[in-house]
Amino acid sequence: MRTDSPVTISRYDYQPYPYDIQAVELQFDLDSESSQVLIRFEAHSKGPTPTPLILDGEELKLLSVSLNGVLLPTTDFKAEENSLTLYPKQTKNIVEIVSVCKPALNTTLMGLYVSGAHLFTQCEAQGFRRIAYFPDRPDVMATYKVVLRAKKAHYPILLSNGNLLASEDLEAGYHQAIWEDPFPKPSYLFALVAGDFDVRSKEIQKASGAKALLQVYSDKGDYANTEWAMQCLENSVRWDEQRFGLELDLDRFMIVAAHDFNMGAMENKGLNIFNAAYVLAHPSTTTDSSYQAIEAVIGHEYFHNWTGNRVTCKDWFQLSLKEGLTVFRDQEFSADMQAQGLDGVEALSARAVKRIDDVSILRSAQFPEDAGPMAHPIRPESYEEISNFYTATIYEKGAEVIRMLHTLLGEQDFQAGMREYFARHDGQAVSCDDFLDALDTIYRQRGPEYTLETFRRWYEQAGTPTVAVQLDYDETQRSATVTLTQRNPAVGIETRHAHEKPPLHIPFRLGMLNAQGQTQAFSLDGQTHTDVILNLQQSSQSWHLSDLRERPVLSLLRQFSAPIKVEYYRSDAELSLLAQHDPEPFARWEAMQLLLTRHLLAAEHSARQNRPVLLQTFLALIQDKTLSPAYLARILSLPSERELLEQTRPMNPQRVVQAKRTLQQDLGLGLAPYWQELYQYHQQSGAYQSDALSAGKRALKNLALNYLAAAGVSTALQLALRQFNDANNMTDQLAALSVLVHYAPPEHKQAALEQFYTQWQHKPLVIDRWFSLQACAPDTDTEKVRGLMLHPAFTLRNPNRARSLIFQFCINNLGAVHTQAGYSFWAEQVLALDKLNPEIAARLARVFDNWARFELPIQSELKAALEHIAAQTQLSANVREIILKALTL
Ligand code: TRP
Ligand code: ZN
Repeated sequence: MRTDSPVTISRYDYQPYPYDIQAVELQFDLDSESSQVLIRFEAHSKGPTPTPLILDGEELKLLSVSLNGVLLPTTDFKAEENSLTLYPKQTKNIVEIVSVCKPALNTTLMGLYVSGAHLFTQCEAQGFRRIAYFPDRPDVMATYKVVLRAKKAHYPILLSNGNLLASEDLEAGYHQAIWEDPFPKPSYLFALVAGDFDVRSKEIQKASGAKALLQVYSDKGDYANTEWAMQCLENSVRWDEQRFGLELDLDRFMIVAAHDFNMGAMENKGLNIFNAAYVLAHPSTTTDSSYQAIEAVIGHEYFHNWTGNRVTCKDWFQLSLKEGLTVFRDQEFSADMQAQGLDGVEALSARAVKRIDDVSILRSAQFPEDAGPMAHPIRPESYEEISNFYTATIYEKGAEVIRMLHTLLGEQDFQAGMREYFARHDGQAVSCDDFLDALDTIYRQRGPEYTLETFRRWYEQAGTPTVAVQLDYDETQRSATVTLTQRNPAVGIETRHAHEKPPLHIPFRLGMLNAQGQTQAFSLDGQTHTDVILNLQQSSQSWHLSDLRERPVLSLLRQFSAPIKVEYYRSDAELSLLAQHDPEPFARWEAMQLLLTRHLLAAEHSARQNRPVLLQTFLALIQDKTLSPAYLARILSLPSERELLEQTRPMNPQRVVQAKRTLQQDLGLGLAPYWQELYQYHQQSGAYQSDALSAGKRALKNLALNYLAAAGVSTALQLALRQFNDANNMTDQLAALSVLVHYAPPEHKQAALEQFYTQWQHKPLVIDRWFSLQACAPDTDTEKVRGLMLHPAFTLRNPNRARSLIFQFCINNLGAVHTQAGYSFWAEQVLALDKLNPEIAARLARVFDNWARFELPIQSELKAALEHIAAQTQLSANVREIILKALTL
């Protein structure tokens, strides 16, 4: 634990590393208590006179250092807490260092650590320095040859990046494996795995005709649960070949599931290590949304092989270069998979479902971040702890920025830009500007007014822009002027020198309907359109549209063409019309959300008076036979409490919880017979089917069940109980249990929870869900959570378990966590986690960094809890950065 004063790293401080390092050799003597590591590399000074050679190292026990074959006395090097400095006399040097680390004591899950009976590594961003002394920065790229030695009985399988060169038995029950990765890579992509696993293998033929071996490693006994992962991996390989023209560059590609893991997964070259939650799947234990998440994460890590590994980041300020781009790629992969085999309107609607889910995540996680003390551009200007910058902004807003580029260039030119990027930078560590330059070269070929100059500001400016829309319709001319005005106010740290920022390049997709809900064409610049992208590049711009037969109803920001907020007043009637008729499915969903949000946030009496328009719109949607069940389930769902909270000013959690409860009840009661009918109609008999259509039916049926239960309809709990007992898949079983946990009388609820626990106690990923459900139950308070923490199945050390109970309670149980007891519980858990795993603790610390936007007295109570954390002397750099930034704004 570090207690020194915070060090801020600035983007402008970048200095190239003074040495070239081409080939790294590593030898591991693996043991869970104590592993010995020998690292050997050549370091060639870039300049004519050698400078000190500074290596990173953390929590390593240094055994020996030799330079050019000579063992150095301790006086000839400087070993400090987090670094080792050598003083070479010549420009070409061979460095050899032996050190020891302690995997079993490593609770941070960074570096080399123990999970179950296995050993894993996690090196991004700065974990390699916990394994060996080395310049642990992404612009130092080398090939790696790795020798792994261990007791064969403990660790029969030994894996590292690249190709297996040899494996052999050694004496005294030991064995070794030698791996070589021919592609130069930064240290953050190094990985090793040791243990005993089930392996699923599949040989495939690549587009070029060459063969490749795909493998998924899981705990013994989990073989049956890796079929979906293998399928997703193969689909990923195919998709990258077909859509991006990018082929797998290795003979062998491995995925390994780990039960203790800080994030979703890690793209180590040829050896992806995954949180088991994003690998293991079986209908009886895995929900439909988890199946989708597994597909997305497997795609994401696989796609990193080109966007991240073949071309990597020059420094960590460029993180979005790989993450934003790779999230964009995984989103497109999932959308293409969902739309597979469909055409026309159906394909559009399937893609829209994915878009809706992604935008909901952006709004509930990234928009708040962009309005709080941690607000940062997708390319940050400074950081204290890089692991705090693996954020929704870098990932999700980063992906939105890439999507806007895709919108501006179109698929063909975007792909041409990607080819240009790889032609220029394959094998290099580069910057976001390098990527933009490659795309800009293609874009400029269209003509002098086409440039990404203004667009680049998205990489410099934090905050969610607001675009106000103004429509001036001229009835006599049958024409209209649409004016878009953007605002980019200071956010986060910028507010200290409050200034309005320059305008961004915002692609704003727009369409028009007439009063009957039909598409209304219009002329713009002499061409007829039904849908157009307006390129807003100045603070305010107007477009003149003609040949409008009547006053148009505007369909705005179609497909969510930019990560912004729109300001434009439309009446309930207009929103209802759009919700029923907009041919663009994203904007159609959006109209319904706006209408619902307006009613949820209106004063209670006026909201209740206006229920009829909601009920009528819902009814029309339910009866619209052209909508897919998956889409219908989205459009009939209320916005999440967290999204709603963002829109109350000052933020008032209890009001949001209450409003949502009341509206759910009203919609449930008002449409009860229709919910009943939907529930029956989408009930599926026979064997479980995993396809998108069946999953959509389950989502819709379970939504209907929820409305019925919320309304207190007498049969709802019986239906839920029957579904709970009869379900042949986890989606249905968990949905039913959720209804019981929310609405059943305590005895029934408790019995169902116990039954579920008994049934699934040996499946940790299912038990995570069991904890989550209880964490979010309306009658759960801190005492209840503390009780659950005493359950034998609970442990703070396993991040998935900590997330399922503590994070779920603090993030999603708004009613219960927003109490004095809730705040002290939160602070207490941040501190407890910080002793074990600072990265996870810092994520929990972020939950209330938005304290200043709450109403009183919440604001001052939260502030006191933050100050309590800040007053501790032993904080990690991770938690300290979050808490101090939250308190100084
Ligand atoms: N690069 C990984 C991804 O986006 C995620 C990652 C970053 C990570 N840091 C990590 C995973 C630390 C585990 C632990 O896919
Ligand atoms: Zn990633």
